[in-house]
This record gives sequence, C-alpha cells and structure tokens, in this order.
Amino acid sequence: MTTADSDKVALITGGSRGIGYGVAEALVARGHRVCVTGRGEDALTAAVEALSAAAPDGAGRVIGVAGKAHDEAHQAVAVERVMEAFGRVDFLVNNAGTNPVFGPIAELDLGVARKVFETNVVSALGFAQRTYRAWQKENGGAIVNIASIAGVAPSPFIGAYGMSKAAMINLTVQLAHEMA
Ligand SMILES: NC(=O)c1ccc[n+]([C@@H]2O[C@H](COP(=O)([O-])OP(=O)(O)OC[C@H]3O[C@@H](n4cnc5c(N)ncnc54)[C@H](OP(=O)(O)O)[C@@H]3O)[C@@H](O)[C@H]2O)c1
Repeated sequence: MTTADSDKVALITGGSRGIGYGVAEALVARGHRVCVTGRGEDALTAAVEALSAAAPDGAGRVIGVAGKAHDEAHQAVAVERVMEAFGRVDFLVNNAGTNPVFGPIAELDLGVARKVFETNVVSALGFAQRTYRAWQKENGGAIVNIASIAGVAPSPFIGAYGMSKAAMINLTVQLAHEMA
C-alpha cells in the first residue's frame, strides 16, 4: 500500500452492519478513515467501537452519524461532520437500502413505492450532491452506489425494490457522465 492509497476518507451510508460494515472494515484495515451512518444509535455506536478497535493506528479513525438516509438534514449533518472531523471526503458509498414489501406489483402501495425510492435512490443523489460540493468537485474521489441484480432483471414480488435499483444503476451512469 502506498501513501497515496491510504489515509483517505470514506462516508458509508448504512454502515452499522451487513455490506456497509464490511466495506468500512476493509477500508479501515487499509488505513483509511471512515464515517458510517444508520438509523439505530446503539448498533451504530457498537460498529464505531468495533471498527475503531480494528484500526491499525488507533482511535480517531472512525465516526458515526445516526439518521435516516433520505432525510436531507441528516445528509447535511453527516457530510459536515465528516469535513469537521477529517477535512476531506474522498469516497462516498451509497449503501443504505430498504426492501420492505413482498408481493405482486399490481397490489403495490404507491406510498410504499415512493418511500423505497426515497431511501434507495433519492438519498443516494442527495449524498452525492453534498460530497461532490464539499470535496470531490475540486479534489476528485469516488462514488460507489450499491445496486442489485434486481435492478437488471425483473424479480418476482420485489418490484418496488427492483425499480429503485434500476434507477440506482441509471443514477450511477448519470453521475459518472456529469461528475467524473
Ligand atoms: N444482502 C444482499 O443479498 C444484497 C444483495 C444485493 C444488494 N444489496 C444491497 O446492499 C445494501 C446493503 O444490504 P445489506 O444486506 O448489507 O443490508 P443490512 O444488513 O440490512 O444492513 C443495512 C444497513 O443500512 C442501515 N439502514 C437501513 N435503512 C436505512 C435508512 N433508511 N437510513 C439509514 N440507514 C439505513 C442499517 O442500519 P439501521 O437499520 O440501524 O438503519 C444497516 O446499517 C442495500 O442497498 C441492499 O439493497 C444487498
């Protein structure tokens, strides 16, 4: 690992468990600093403690910001806290996602469909706008959006999720065209 490859900063939404936590763990092990988010404060605190303990060079490498990914105030606070704590935000990992309904799309509640889009797609756009403005526009970096095979091919009974992940794939291409 070269110096240029280490000590960068990542904001990972939904990093208190699962894939997001795994991404945080891998980045911390490579010498990067991370901020993880999630709704549940206890789980987030436990994740920050575990990630900090695993950091090769000690404390101060990991912070957590609790909140709902689609909440614009939370997005603003999370990016502000990262910039205050670390002074840069090289990587954004839009990982927080939800799949709350299982059933035929003909019966899909439109309120639920909107909520899935808010959490899975609009939140990713909001975080991308904020990290781009705060750091990446001038300094570069990377935005990783966690999609799903359900966004590529239809999957029975998870229509809202699949639609949102297809939109996430399109958003990723659009961000690459406009920001890369
Ligand atoms: N697991 C799979 O097989 C799979 C396959 C394809 C794609 N994916 C995608 O990969 C991503 C992560 O999946 P996962 O299986 O690792 O999920 P997971 O184990 O359920 O973990 C989700 C993480 O996101 C947080 N989270 C959930 N809803 C949130 C919200 N509205 N706002 C902020 N944080 C939220 C959770 O913490 P709180 O609950 O405390 O908020 C947790 O930290 C998702 O985008 C998912 O669609 C997963």
